[in-house]
Amino acid sequence: MNILVSGGAGFIGSHTVDALIEKGHHVRILDSLQKTIHPRGKPDYIHPEAEFIQGDVRKKQSWLTALKDIDVVYHFAAYQDYLPDFSTFFHTNAVSTALLYEIIVAQAAFKKIRKVIVASSQAVMGEGRYKCPQCFPSTRAFIYPSIRPESQLSRGQWEHRCAVCHGQLKWLASDETVVNPGNQYALSKSSQEQIAIQLGKRYNIPTVVLRYSIVQGSRQSLYNAYSGVMRIFALSLMLGRAPVIFEDGNQIRDYVNIDDVVEANLLVLNRQDANGQVFNVGGGRGLSVIEFYNAMQKTVGKTIEPIISRYYRYGDTRHIFSDIRKLRRLGWEPKRRITQSIKDYWEFIHHQQRSEDILEYAQSRMKGLRVIREVSASGSLC
Ligand SMILES: NC(=O)c1ccc[n+]([C@@H]2O[C@H](COP(=O)([O-])OP(=O)(O)OC[C@H]3O[C@@H](n4cnc5c(N)ncnc54)[C@H](O)[C@@H]3O)[C@@H](O)[C@H]2O)c1
Repeated sequence: MNILVSGGAGFIGSHTVDALIEKGHHVRILDSLQKTIHPRGKPDYIHPEAEFIQGDVRKKQSWLTALKDIDVVYHFAAYQDYLPDFSTFFHTNAVSTALLYEIIVAQAAFKKIRKVIVASSQAVMGEGRYKCPQCFPSTRAFIYPSIRPESQLSRGQWEHRCAVCHGQLKWLASDETVVNPGNQYALSKSSQEQIAIQLGKRYNIPTVVLRYSIVQGSRQSLYNAYSGVMRIFALSLMLGRAPVIFEDGNQIRDYVNIDDVVEANLLVLNRQDANGQVFNVGGGRGLSVIEFYNAMQKTVGKTIEPIISRYYRYGDTRHIFSDIRKLRRLGWEPKRRITQSIKDYWEFIHHQQRSEDILEYAQSRMKGLRVIREVSASGSLC
């Protein structure tokens, strides 16, 4: 098949491109080589057999050129920094998706497109699903909290609390029905999901949305301002600096290895029973941030006491964990362990240049924009 991968120069896109080529498909990449992700231009890991078009998914002409003779589209291009230029998120993530469907519907030449696969994010589920063990110990009365208010975080109170009894809520796995986007990125991804699923159904364009958890592995951009734990911890250990852990480090996350994600991407390509649906793609195992750091220290054989910082990132999710039973029913299983992801990433960063700058760069940019904030001794915000 002829397959177009938007964002194919990026992390998930490029690994998917490699796997598609390996399966014998002809692959074309549409990518703008966004400066914040690729400050050194076109990455050298791009598969030599992939056709490369530099273009912008926000522009109709880019799609028109890239879609010629294409059977399947993977739409991965996205704007992901958690920065306050809100409209960019919607233009890049949601409007680009509407534009893709608009072109497929309007242009007879693109009627042969057999499937569109769209990358969404666990972020769509916001704070996820909780219950109150005191008020509703045995019922399915779920609670979907909003982001924790500034007044709570600035006092260093991290857990979600019940509005009735004020006891600590218990986090639960969130399935695909959970939609509670709490920031500009999540809102744009939620819109993107709706656009893809609803226009796909309405205009008979088989569509699958994959809602990834935190994906880990090589080729993750070192430059996004919103640092993931893998990058912060790996760079800190590599440079011999104590890593800063936000809040108290007990936040639960689920991490999924890039090779498992690629398998999910390829699985839904030929599965008709996946069409018209959203699937969570997660690691199936919850890990606290401290547990993740301990796993990294053990895997790379380095130990540095972390700084549990009193810093927090306003708007961060406290706990989030994806329920992956729906994709498991299609026959998918996350097979790689977190240690594999750590090894792959550790090797990757050792081949990157100028890693000293990157850690400081991301943190100072986030502080400058007041995304990172600190709890003061008096409880007021610094
Ligand atoms: N990496 C994760 O952990 C994760 C988690 C959840 C969801 N996702 C989603 O998966 C998809 C891929 O993520 P990734 O981690 O590979 O991202 P990435 O930043 O590594 O790659 C994104 C690619 O899109 C390109 N791009 C950005 N804006 C563009 C535009 N306007 N036109 C054309 N190309 C553009 C970039 O140059 C980059 O190569 C995204 O849709 C993202 O929202 C990723």
